[in-house]
Amino acid sequence: MARAIVYTEFGSPDVLHLIEVPDPIALSGEAVVRIDAAGANPIDAKLRSAKRPSPPITEPRAVGFDGAGVIDSLGDDVDGFAVGDRVAIRDTVGTYSTLLAVPIEKLVALPDSVTAAEGAGIGIPAGTAYQALRSLGLSGGDVLLVHGGSGSVGQAAVQFAVAWGATVVATASPARHDQLRDLGATPVAYGDGLLERVREAAPDGVTVALDCAGTDEAIEVSLELVADRDRIATIVRGPDAASFGIRAFSGGSPVPLTEQELAWRAEALGATVELLASGDFTIELGPELPLAEAAQAHELMESGAASGKIILIP
Ligand SMILES: NC(=O)c1ccc[n+]([C@@H]2O[C@H](COP(=O)([O-])OP(=O)(O)OC[C@H]3O[C@@H](n4cnc5c(N)ncnc54)[C@H](OP(=O)(O)O)[C@@H]3O)[C@@H](O)[C@H]2O)c1
Repeated sequence: MARAIVYTEFGSPDVLHLIEVPDPIALSGEAVVRIDAAGANPIDAKLRSAKRPSPPITEPRAVGFDGAGVIDSLGDDVDGFAVGDRVAIRDTVGTYSTLLAVPIEKLVALPDSVTAAEGAGIGIPAGTAYQALRSLGLSGGDVLLVHGGSGSVGQAAVQFAVAWGATVVATASPARHDQLRDLGATPVAYGDGLLERVREAAPDGVTVALDCAGTDEAIEVSLELVADRDRIATIVRGPDAASFGIRAFSGGSPVPLTEQELAWRAEALGATVELLASGDFTIELGPELPLAEAAQAHELMESGAASGKIILIP
């Protein structure tokens, strides 16, 4: 039997529990992946706690969207993958498990130089950062402000922006500033006085802002600094972004992502694997916990105490 983390009611992390489930079967166009690592994302906890609304629970609900592992079996009509291939998984519900059936278009092959934990840390963070910056039309002449630059999405945004030639200022707690400098950004501390600190760090002005923090401060400072509100976006304040005249990409936004935006999120998986393989991208990995300790992983994630991507190991 396979094992999977599920919940049957919304609530605190302890609603998560490990159950045995029948081994999945690969349908046409699918691969069953033996999971080696699952990435924990804030959305997993927001859905679990019902901070992000979702349909009523009518059967045990699986958890997790990002993962990596090895192809165990293949359905019909699958080209380009073979049993035994190492793969990264994006956008597939239920990666907190030992075996998962995954549509082939949600997989990218992993080279030997990219670890399973790294592969499990790409899907949502890099996909969101890549799409957001593409949507904002970021290019070489821009000065980008990233709020929450030390987080998983923020670090990905910093690295894409630097690779595309932009100048980047990123907010983080002081303990994370050296790390942001290493990624090519000018770090500034969030909190009182942020506006002045960003002005000092970007004397020629800021042309684009991406909010990965969701604070009032992040929104207010972005509005103050960036003249064109179409070049300010939040990935957290979806519900009230429109009231500020700024853009939101998911994050509770009533406006769905466009086909192009979904395509950018998909494209990011392969693009990031290539950058990782060539040593031009890093994913900060955090604590690794056994799959059965998914509840502790969520506690840790929600406390904000751990830095780096929290990984579950089946
Ligand atoms: N819309 C979407 O599609 C989408 C996709 C992915 C994520 N998200 C959302 O985006 C947010 C970030 O996700 P993530 O995976 O990057 O989370 P994460 O890795 O946990 O990072 C969160 C970051 O927030 C920073 N932070 C905490 N308090 C802050 C403040 N007052 N001002 C500025 N930054 C602050 C922390 O920085 P320090 O450690 O330096 O304090 C931390 O690095 C979450 O709310 C998540 O749900 C949305």
